[in-house]
Amino acid sequence: MKLPELKIGELTAKIPVIQGGMGIGISLNRLAGTVAAEGGIGILSTAQIGFQEDKFQRASVRTNLQTIKKQLDKARSFAKGGILGFNVMVASFRYDDVVRATVEAGADVIISGAGLPMNLPDLVGDAKTKIAPIVSSVKAAKLILRNWAKKYNRTADFVVIEGPKAGGHLGFKADQIDEAILGMDDEVVKIIAHVKEYEEKFNMKIPVIFAGGVWDRSDIDHYMGLGCSGVQMATRFIGTQECDAPDDFKDRFLKATEDDIHLTTSPVGLPGRAIDNKFTETITNGVAAYKAQEAPKTPIIPIAKCLNCLQHKLCDRKTIPYCISEALLNSVEHNTDMGLIFSGTNGYRINEITTVKAIFDEIAV
Ligand SMILES: Cc1cc2nc3c(=O)[nH]c(=O)nc-3n(C[C@H](O)[C@H](O)[C@H](O)COP(=O)(O)O)c2cc1C
Repeated sequence: MKLPELKIGELTAKIPVIQGGMGIGISLNRLAGTVAAEGGIGILSTAQIGFQEDKFQRASVRTNLQTIKKQLDKARSFAKGGILGFNVMVASFRYDDVVRATVEAGADVIISGAGLPMNLPDLVGDAKTKIAPIVSSVKAAKLILRNWAKKYNRTADFVVIEGPKAGGHLGFKADQIDEAILGMDDEVVKIIAHVKEYEEKFNMKIPVIFAGGVWDRSDIDHYMGLGCSGVQMATRFIGTQECDAPDDFKDRFLKATEDDIHLTTSPVGLPGRAIDNKFTETITNGVAAYKAQEAPKTPIIPIAKCLNCLQHKLCDRKTIPYCISEALLNSVEHNTDMGLIFSGTNGYRINEITTVKAIFDEIAV
C-alpha cells in the first residue's frame, strides 16, 4: 500500500518521513535538501552550524547565526520546492536568537527539543513557519500544549515524539530506558489522544510524528497503525552519500556491531546514545573519579576553549566532564577516535552507503 502524504497546515510532504536534525554537521544543506527534493521533510541542525566557516573559531555565535540562512538557501537551491526546516535545541546558547534567525531565513518548519520550548510560539510570531515540540512523554506534551494555549492561544502545528531508541541526547534517565522501550507504544497512544483534545480546541489537524529506532517500512506501518501521521528518521540517513558527515564518520557505522552502541554521559545532563570508541572508553573509565571530585572539577578530557554551544546556566565549565561541542566536532573533523559519534539503536544496521532516493524507493512501496 502506498504511504499517505503528510500534511502540516498548507504544507504537504509526499512521503511522511521527516529526516531528524543531526548536529554537529551531520544534517546540513546536502542531506536536508536531498530529503526535501525526494518528497520528505529535510531538517538542518543549527548546532554549531557555522563550524566550517573561516570566522567560526574567532566568533562562533555570530558565525552560526549568519550561516543559518546560507545553509538553508543552499538546501533550497536543489530541494525542488520541498519542505525544509531546522532543529533547534532549547538548551542552545542564545536559543531565542537562533530561532529568530531560522524564521528570518524562511524555514518552513522548526522542531525543538532538548528542553521544553515554552516560548517558541512567541519567537515565531505571525510567521508562516510551522512549529513542533519534541516530547518523550505525555507529561511533557501536556505541559507544553497547555502552556502554549494559555499564554499564546496557539497550539503545535505538529508534534514529534522521540522514543528511547533514538540517537543523540535522550529524554529519559539512563536507568529508565529499558522500561521506556517496553512502554513506549502505550505512551504514543496516550500522547496522540492528548493531542486530539487540542485538535478539537483549535479546530485543526495536528499530525503526530514518531522518532527513535524507525528503520524500514514495517516500522513506519507500526507507528502509523498506532495513529501517527508520519515518522522521523535520523540514523538511517547517516548511511547515505548525501549525509553531510565525512566518510570516516560514516565508516564507524559501517564497522559497528550491535554490541558497539551504548549510552554515554553528556554535559547536557541527559544520557546520549553513541558508538563505542576511545572517547566513550575514556569517559566511562573516568566518570567515577570525576563524580567524586568537588567543584571546581578537573574534566575527564581537558577543555581547550568554550565555543558557547549551551546556555551557560546549563553548562558550567567548573562541573562538566568534557566539552560536548569539542567532542562532536572531533567526530566530524577527522578525529573519530576522540569524537562523540551519536547513533540510534539501529546504527549497526548501516552496511552500505546508499542514497536518500534508494531509501525512499524502498520504504515508499
Ligand atoms: C548523529 C545524531 C545527531 C543528532 N543530533 C540531534 C540534534 O542536534 N538535536 C536533536 O534534537 N536531535 C538530534 N538527534 C536525534 C535525531 O534528530 C532523531 O530524532 C533520532 O535520532 C531518531 O532516531 P533514529 O536515529 O533511530 O532514527 C541526533 C541523532 C543522531 C543519530
